[in-house]
Amino acid sequence: MYLTKNEENMLSGEMGEGIQKAMEIIVALGKIYNAENLVEVKSVQVAGVSYKNLGDAGIKFLEEWAKKGGKISVKTTLNPAGMDLLNWKKLGFKEDFAKKQLKVIDAFKKMGIEPVCTCTPYLIGNLPEFGDHIAWAESSAVSFANSVIGARTNREGGPSALAAAISGRTANYGFHLDENRLADFVFDVKCKVKNFSDFGALGNIIGKTAKNKVPYITGVMEKNQDNLKVLGASMAASGAVALYHIEHVTPEAKKGKMFKDSVERITIESLEEAYNSLNSDENDIDFVSIGCPHASFNELKTIAGMVKDKKLKAELWVTTSKYVKERAKDFVDVIEKSGGKVLSDTCMIVAPVEDFGFKNMATNSGKAAVYAPAHSKLNVRFGTLEKCINAAIKGRWE
Ligand code: F3S
Repeated sequence: MYLTKNEENMLSGEMGEGIQKAMEIIVALGKIYNAENLVEVKSVQVAGVSYKNLGDAGIKFLEEWAKKGGKISVKTTLNPAGMDLLNWKKLGFKEDFAKKQLKVIDAFKKMGIEPVCTCTPYLIGNLPEFGDHIAWAESSAVSFANSVIGARTNREGGPSALAAAISGRTANYGFHLDENRLADFVFDVKCKVKNFSDFGALGNIIGKTAKNKVPYITGVMEKNQDNLKVLGASMAASGAVALYHIEHVTPEAKKGKMFKDSVERITIESLEEAYNSLNSDENDIDFVSIGCPHASFNELKTIAGMVKDKKLKAELWVTTSKYVKERAKDFVDVIEKSGGKVLSDTCMIVAPVEDFGFKNMATNSGKAAVYAPAHSKLNVRFGTLEKCINAAIKGRWE
């Protein structure tokens, strides 16, 4: 693999142990995937932030790297942590967990990373441009960056994203190369796809077939970014899709033919299969989770409109980034007045929700509905935002 003189110096340790370790990871990955060279990255998003997933071994790994002088060299944000970093006490997170989580955050801070923990970095200023090489880790964000923005990233692991943040480089393989961005499947959507949960359901169906390949979708003239974000999140959860194209919609599909000469064509006539497979038959709802991926300003505004002057029976968590929460303060106040909670820096999948004793969760997210049973031991009801908010108000799924 070709390395520039500067990259060779980084790898040899001349520029410090922290950078050397980062380069060792990047070069090793490059060799595994036969990359010809490295590319400079404009932005990084690091996953593996929640203590729930990292454990003590993860803290040790991060602290050692920070001690070696690992410092980021490009714009970097973090994926959600295991708790709201500001309001964890008030929200009832356990002290033991919080102490460990704060150690994780401290290690990232020592590396120069601002503790902004979100899976929607593109909503808070970590926004690459079309064609930029980046190294992002969170699967829904990877999908959004590749597909909706037209930036270029593989689905990085926690350590490889951090290595990219420190070295400012990633290996030039996978979705960084033109030839790997062409679709392997064409999905012709013949049914109506109307709202956030429908887009999650569609993503669920496509992800199951496409697995880690690239789908090209026709019949969906969607511009709403919230719907596109959950479409990608859902495909990444039911499969491992990191890039999709939508005819006449996503930037690369607007520029030219983005599928291979020989593709499998699949028609989708209905979303019912996804709604059926993601729904349990529990009707008593004690927990409602909205904001997977993290809620936008508009989503908070819509939710506030729905709960205004109501009193909620079930616990409602709306998860978002702290910047969006600040911007939408008036709507947050309305949601909190109804008894709902707006959490930043975390979500119901990476937080230890088992500690809260919830049993049956309603969500409008196709991704949360896939992960919650295994990750958070919850029975799931999956449907529209209206149904979920109604369940929060009545404590029942109707
Ligand atoms: Fe984000 Fe958590 Fe969903 S990280 S995409 S809110 S599972």
